[in-house]
Order: sequence, then structure tokens, then C-alpha cells
Amino acid sequence: MPRKLAAGNWKMNGTTGALAEARALAAACPEPGVSVLICPPATLLSRLSDLLAAGPITTGGQDCHGATSGAHTGDISAEMLADAGAGSVILGHSERRADHGETNGEVRIKSEAAIAAGLVAIVCVGETGAERDAGDTLSVIEAQLSGSLPDTITPATLVVAYEPVWAIGTGRVPTLDQIDEVHTMIRANLRARYGAETGDEITLLYGGSVKGANASEIFAVADVNGALVGGASLKADDFLPIIQALEAS
Ligand code: 13P
Repeated sequence: MPRKLAAGNWKMNGTTGALAEARALAAACPEPGVSVLICPPATLLSRLSDLLAAGPITTGGQDCHGATSGAHTGDISAEMLADAGAGSVILGHSERRADHGETNGEVRIKSEAAIAAGLVAIVCVGETGAERDAGDTLSVIEAQLSGSLPDTITPATLVVAYEPVWAIGTGRVPTLDQIDEVHTMIRANLRARYGAETGDEITLLYGGSVKGANASEIFAVADVNGALVGGASLKADDFLPIIQALEAS
């Protein structure tokens, strides 16, 4: 069975005061029955990693550069994330693809760099609303998978997150059938590319307006092994019910 993972993506939210939310979450679930991850802004990563070091909740970055070091002002390498305590990094999030023009090829290079630095690469894919309306959802995601994922992975180094762009931060969630269709396709794609044994073990996350109120039904969809949560990961009181729903799934 794939590892179950509840991952919080704080995006560009949070200064020092936000550490209290992570402290509250750690106190509320000292022994979670699933993996729990928080990806804060880079400015908080080191402090958050120290704060959570004694417990099971891990930390991650939200992006990394494809190179190990060098003249890349403002960028952060995978090795630097690991040095700051991260165990994972989100790559190819649709906001980075949109805001920074990240291509599938760049996401693949970043993913290879992350894995080489000992991080879990959480690679995001997902269609825009226009692509769904045009009936292109599966072909868009297949192209993202083939272009963004490294050739050399294991279930311990790769997580794939399906995040429909139109569902992110909108309160709009795909139907369970729509989630099922995409996750079934992703699972088949991973089995075909990496072999059935490896493909079956890779954790697949759904992301986009996941809340405590809809988490249970989403986690009941076959091949949904957890969630990548934005807004509802910022407050311990909102993230906790999602973690609990995953534990119960
Ligand atoms: P929301 O949960 O705020 O919709 O964000 C999802 C997301 O983009 C997580 O990476």
C-alpha cells in the first residue's frame, strides 16, 4: 500500500507568529497514524524544522533550483532545503508554472536535483479550467507526467499530486468521479513507466479546496492516498480534521 500523506502547503503565507499553528498541530496529534508534512515559506523552514524535530511531523520546501549551487540570486538549492531540515519539496506547483513559467523539463530537472539531495519530490500536475472544458484533461496530465517526472525514482522518493488549477483556492472541487478518473489514469501511467510494483506503491495526493468537510469522501476514492492542502493547512484547527479523515480512511 502507498504511504498515506497529509501535506500542507503554506504558499507565501506566514511569518514568525505562524509557528504557533504548527506547535498547536504537533500538540494535537503527537502520534499521527499517517505521514504529516508542512511546507512553510523558506523563511520559516529552519525554525519550523527545529520546532518539529522531536515529533513525527516533517517539513518541506515549496520549490528548489535544479543546480546544486552557483550564481542564481534568490534561488534555493535542494541541498539547502535539506540542510534547513526539509525532507520533501513541492515541485511544479501550478502557481510556479504560471507565475514563473516553469516548464515540464525544468520541473524534471528540479525533481532530479531534489532526489539527489535526499528529498522526496512532490511533483504537481493538473489541468486548467479551459483545458478541462476542452476535454483535454487526461492528455494534459499525461504530458505533464511524461515531461516532469524523472526516470529514476522509487516510491520513497516520489509523490505525485493531482491539483486541478480551477479547484485551487476556489472552493470548487471536482466530482468524485472526476478525481477517480484522473487518479486511475495516473496510477496506470506510473505502473506502465516504472513497473507495476513501483507504480502501485507511489503515493498519489489530491489537492484543491480540500477541507475537513470534504476530506473523507475524497479519501474514499481509489488511488487517493492523501491530500496537498493549501488554505486549510494554515490553521491547526482546520488541518487536524483532514489528518483525522485520512487516518480513518
Ligand atoms: P487550496 O487547498 O487552498 O485550494 O490549495 C491547494 C494547493 O494549491 C495546495 O498546493
